[in-house]
Amino acid sequence: MKVLITGASGLLGGNLCYLYASRHEVSGWYFRHPVQIPACRMVKVNLLDPNEIKEALEAWKPEYIIHCAANANVDDCEAHPKEARRLNVESTRVLAENAAAIKAKLIYISTDSVFTSDRDSSFREEEETAPRTVYAQTKYEGEKLALAMSPESLVIRTCIYGYNILPKKSLGEWVIGELQLQKSIQGFTDLYFTPILVNDLADWLERAFKQSWRGCLHMASHDVVSKYEFACLLAREFGFSESRVKSAGVETSSLKAFRPKRPCLSVAKIENMAGEKMPTVHQGIRRFYNLYQEGYQKRLKSFNGHLATQGK
Ligand SMILES: NC(=O)c1ccc[n+]([C@@H]2O[C@H](COP(=O)([O-])OP(=O)(O)OC[C@H]3O[C@@H](n4cnc5c(N)ncnc54)[C@H](OP(=O)(O)O)[C@@H]3O)[C@@H](O)[C@H]2O)c1
Repeated sequence: MKVLITGASGLLGGNLCYLYASRHEVSGWYFRHPVQIPACRMVKVNLLDPNEIKEALEAWKPEYIIHCAANANVDDCEAHPKEARRLNVESTRVLAENAAAIKAKLIYISTDSVFTSDRDSSFREEEETAPRTVYAQTKYEGEKLALAMSPESLVIRTCIYGYNILPKKSLGEWVIGELQLQKSIQGFTDLYFTPILVNDLADWLERAFKQSWRGCLHMASHDVVSKYEFACLLAREFGFSESRVKSAGVETSSLKAFRPKRPCLSVAKIENMAGEKMPTVHQGIRRFYNLYQEGYQKRLKSFNGHLATQGK
């Protein structure tokens, strides 16, 4: 299949390009950060420029577009709302229009942050959203545009961790990095989530486009954990003492924008459709550890185009 992945230099997009390139024809779009992923056709495209989107799509007509690119930095979106809207909403509109014109199916990656309430039970796809930050609001508007443009579109709400190509760190990488430096870290006991490893998400997204799933779907862990429990599980799996994970409340943090306390995603719908359970948090962390042991993280980092150029 011919699959285009936007945000190829990002956490999710970079992993999707790498993992799919061995079994699909893959093109990845990046913008400020060149990445060189084996067997993948990498193209520099500024999503803020409608002409660039149109030309790049017409030059390589994909069957599927997995739209990962976004400003996913919650505090930055809050500080620069106009810019966040241009990327998260307006460029999604242009991409969706052009995808419809070439009959490509759009898979739009969204976020658990569209839910805000502190209630104990997880949120189902049909439930009312309540985005409270600029990031959540703009991602939610992107969802609506993607679905309005074509009945074939798929919106995936998720919450991810994994290994980055670029030097920046996802939550999982940060926890391991700090523990490797012999530091203690704080884990919030009052923030709960349903995180999925990007490698697991890649497997489920592939299933989604092969089986032509459409509409809105949650892809997240089977169970719910607090950020404190998540860090403890990581510490245990990687052989560090859990005592270096200190419990804390989110009010002690330096996070600027509002963070929902329990944006937990129910995965009952996808589990019913697939007849299979989503991975538990522990299963995801075990795979995260096994990948580390296999040298997956080092391999990914070698695709950083900036480093590759420096080494020449
Ligand atoms: N990370 C999370 O915890 C999380 C949780 C839930 C949902 N999500 C969603 O999952 C998706 C992927 O997130 P992520 O963490 O992988 O994102 P990320 O690592 O922050 O990557 C963002 C990507 O967007 C690209 N981009 C930014 N501005 C662009 C522009 N003007 N033109 C073209 N590309 C541009 C970046 O390319 P350059 O750097 O090359 O410019 C980068 O590849 C996002 O839609 C996000 O909302 C993420």
